[in-house]
Amino acid sequence: MHISAELRELFAGANRVLVLTGAGVSAESGVPTFRGGGNTAVWKGMPFDVISSAEMVERDLPAVWEWFDYRRHFLEELKPNPAHYAIARWQDRFAEFTLVTQNIDGLHQKAGSREVIELHGNIWRARCTACGTAYNMAQEKRPDACFECGDLLRPDVVLFGEMLPRGAFEFAAVRASASELCFVVGTSALVYPAAGLPEIAKAAGAYVVEVNPERTPLSSQCDEVLTGKAGEVLPLFER
Ligand code: APR
Repeated sequence: MHISAELRELFAGANRVLVLTGAGVSAESGVPTFRGGGNTAVWKGMPFDVISSAEMVERDLPAVWEWFDYRRHFLEELKPNPAHYAIARWQDRFAEFTLVTQNIDGLHQKAGSREVIELHGNIWRARCTACGTAYNMAQEKRPDACFECGDLLRPDVVLFGEMLPRGAFEFAAVRASASELCFVVGTSALVYPAAGLPEIAKAAGAYVVEVNPERTPLSSQCDEVLTGKAGEVLPLFER
């Protein structure tokens, strides 16, 4: 793995930088990825895209909660890794820095990142299925029902078959089209619209860099592919 002189120079002089992360950025913290590595997540015989679907919320909300409660419990003990910390340091290095994540684990915030654009929501939040009131579950136990209207709560995450939170992608797209340097870290780049952000950045003239131990559908469009683990590659930029 080699970082080109061109990229080092760009990194040293860039003003507007955007980073898009996926499950791979949390892999070294112990979070299983969804795809790749033969590690496909299955819950009680259901693939993750079945249990984590809008349809399942309609059909069997308690089963959805069981899966998300299990995942929260599992995440509780996990800590950010050097990739999360490197990205958190970058926010103060550039005039305009944008962090967009597909992850719901909250590890970027735990590492100190502020203003994280969470395209797929956050596993530490619940929201009312009727009135939309949000509840933070990081410190407190999950309430049984909405305190405002008494209706059922659901995880405040984007499930398969659902739209992204209003405005989140649009804001990220504006930032992507203004970026000079775009890093795509630890994502299989298969799930749209998130995977479209590097394409937007590229089309607008940004230098696009992928950090991933494996190739993805995006690799061939990138200006530079850094083949390796995020926690090992990202800290190299500060040397
Ligand atoms: N460093 C960098 N990348 C890694 C590492 C690592 N240490 N380990 C694995 N990867 C890469 C894999 O090679 C793979 O390309 O991370 C990627 C993980 O891909 P996915 O599991 O598909 O995760 P992601 O791209 O975030 O999925 C997108 O799909 O299931 C939905 O909503 C869910 O947000 C998720 C979305």
